[in-house]
Amino acid sequence: MKILGIETSCDETAASIVEDGQKLLSTAIATSSEMHVKTGGIIPEQAARQQVKSIIPIINEALKEGKSTLDEIDALAVTSGPGLIGSLLVGVETAKTLSLLTKKKIVPINHLVAHIYANFIGENPSFPALCLVVSGGHTDMVIMKGHGEIKWIGGTRDDAAGEAFDKTARLLGLPYPGGPSIAKAADKYLERNKNAKLNLFPRPMINDNNFDFSFSGLKTAVLNKVNKKDAERDFLAANIQEAVVDVLAEKTVRAAKKFKPKSILLAGGVAANKRLRDKLEKRIKEENIVAKFFVPPISLCTDNAAYIAACAYFNFNPVPWNQIDANPELSIDGQI
Ligand code: KG4
Ligand code: ZN
Repeated sequence: MKILGIETSCDETAASIVEDGQKLLSTAIATSSEMHVKTGGIIPEQAARQQVKSIIPIINEALKEGKSTLDEIDALAVTSGPGLIGSLLVGVETAKTLSLLTKKKIVPINHLVAHIYANFIGENPSFPALCLVVSGGHTDMVIMKGHGEIKWIGGTRDDAAGEAFDKTARLLGLPYPGGPSIAKAADKYLERNKNAKLNLFPRPMINDNNFDFSFSGLKTAVLNKVNKKDAERDFLAANIQEAVVDVLAEKTVRAAKKFKPKSILLAGGVAANKRLRDKLEKRIKEENIVAKFFVPPISLCTDNAAYIAACAYFNFNPVPWNQIDANPELSIDGQI
């Protein structure tokens, strides 16, 4: 079954064809992130205007790259939430129109659950799976007993992990999006100082007996350091990265010890962070956790439509086109 996925929840416009949930036939993506570099963050109205222009060319590109015509597509999948309302509407209304015109079934998809499915493209993680979803707007830990069976066990109480990177990068004068900028600056520092101690900033809630996070305090700690002007920028970036990565890795390891999953799945834009990928893998080994660790290729971590199509295959619940609405507030344990 060939599914055409469409994703427009934030500043990307993406379309992708995935066969039987696991075989990636094409993935096309346009981003307005360069526009947002100038403003240091996303201006929702501008992102949506750009998406209106990009959506049809991107769908055509995905069809062409996937050597498929629209006729050969079996079903459509579209992100219905969470995200920016103007952006979501572009994808949702386009997908609904395509469904009306072609009579193809359409599956509305929860962007956060879908991030997890980047791990199912070309792989077969076993259930139960412990999943850490770390993106620009959300940080959630869930147990997945099977497809569509999601239990939330913890998450951030304030800023998301990606948001912490984006906001502190701004304080350091590094460009948007902050995560890759901080990682690059941190790498520069780590190249020169391989065994440096990186404990400048606190690790909030790391020892608490729950699976919650708090990243908003990091901004104040970084701002104080920046104002003192006594530390080099790359050193601060390495410390920010380490503080975020440490808490995410330790709490995931603790959850794995408690819930004894068969797989541990890392997902979301922040999963593109090499330090996080490496540290979590290392800590899982050090603690002799038997669960198999999965993390998607870097290109499938940040927003794209491949995991939207994959999620729709494994959770195939089509809805009549005129009953689909964009829902900016959807949570990870809500509708898939
Ligand atoms: O999942 P995603 O692409 O979009 C949302 O659904 O939010 O995640 C975007 C977030 C941004 O906060 C970005 O700074 C962060 O992922 N990010 C990274 C890296 N690449 C993207 N954070 C740390 N290291 C990276 N290499
Ligand atoms: Zn995302």
